[in-house]
Amino acid sequence: MTTESTTRPPRRRWGHGKLKRRFAAATALGAALVLTGGMAYAFSETTGTVNEAQAQPDTALIAKGEQLYNQACITCHGSNLQGVQDRGVSLIGVGDAAVYFQVSSGRMPLARQEAQAMRKPPLPQFDPDTEEGRANLDALGAFVQANGGGPETPAQTGAALRGADPARGGQLFRLNCASCHNFTGVGGALSSGKYAPSLEAPTEEQIYTAMLTGPQNMPKFGDRQLTPEEKRDIIAYVKSVTDGNNQVGGNPLGGLGPTTEGVVIFIVGLTSIIGFAMWLGAKN
Ligand code: HEC
Ligand code: HEC
Repeated sequence: MTTESTTRPPRRRWGHGKLKRRFAAATALGAALVLTGGMAYAFSETTGTVNEAQAQPDTALIAKGEQLYNQACITCHGSNLQGVQDRGVSLIGVGDAAVYFQVSSGRMPLARQEAQAMRKPPLPQFDPDTEEGRANLDALGAFVQANGGGPETPAQTGAALRGADPARGGQLFRLNCASCHNFTGVGGALSSGKYAPSLEAPTEEQIYTAMLTGPQNMPKFGDRQLTPEEKRDIIAYVKSVTDGNNQVGGNPLGGLGPTTEGVVIFIVGLTSIIGFAMWLGAKN
């Protein structure tokens, strides 16, 4: 699983002018291109080596992304990513990193309005653990990136996103993240019914893209606030504490709190003393 996910080919970058021209061409060709584009993409997926896949024009990927967008996102985010009043926010400038974070973590497509889009299992067609899901996430991200720009998902995935210095990551985490997510990443409540979730479930890629895009009340941590190396060290730290290495000894007893062992000894001990006294009384 991890080895497979670490070898994804680097993402393509899109220059601004190039983008517009390519995209104009794509729309001009219309439905025919969508069809052939989809076929070309499917072809490159099944038979292409890394080099062949990169030689494919981005238009095919973007056209496939547009199709997916029109099916799952357009009603709330609008035909030009501009957003729809009372339904969804503008996606201009959020980048494919935000698309990856929101869709792979199941927050999007949103089913109904709520105070905060919640993490849930992603739609099967956008599941990052499957080949098809990754391809669809790539296409959707390429479409939003092409039309709105913004931060991009990193090229590496999985364990390759863990930095070499989790101790430095821990320091950075305490400075930048612990005020909301708690020192060990267990999360916590914020004001007005919102909360910072536990960091146990997100993958390395989701932690990285969350930092890059700052969902909801979370601040954005661009590469000037935290360099890519610092982000990777933070990921290494988060993974080290959520992988179960933060056990300080003893049985957590379902996370009832630090005094649980004492409470258990107290209750068990007291019950047995009372029981023993009653047994003595009954004997007499
Ligand atoms: C039912 C309406 C609805 C649908 C459908 C929907 N969204 Fe959203 N989307 C929202 C709302 C509302 C927000 C803001 C929610 C929040 O921040 O918690 C949002 C936020 C986002 C964001 C974060 C924007 C930011 O500023 O960081 C992204 C990215 C996004 N949506 C992408 C998508 C994609 C891609 C799809 C289709 C797969 C989709 N959405 C489908 C309503 C919707
Ligand atoms: C001001 C409070 C705040 C700070 C500081 C903050 N976050 Fe968050 N974080 C949030 C909130 C709120 C969410 C939930 C967003 C949502 O559900 O749309 C979140 C979501 C996340 C998620 C997604 C979790 C999931 O369940 O998918 C990750 C990963 C994350 N934050 C990592 C970090 C890291 C790493 C830092 C420090 C570099 C950080 N956050 C700093 C408030 C914060």
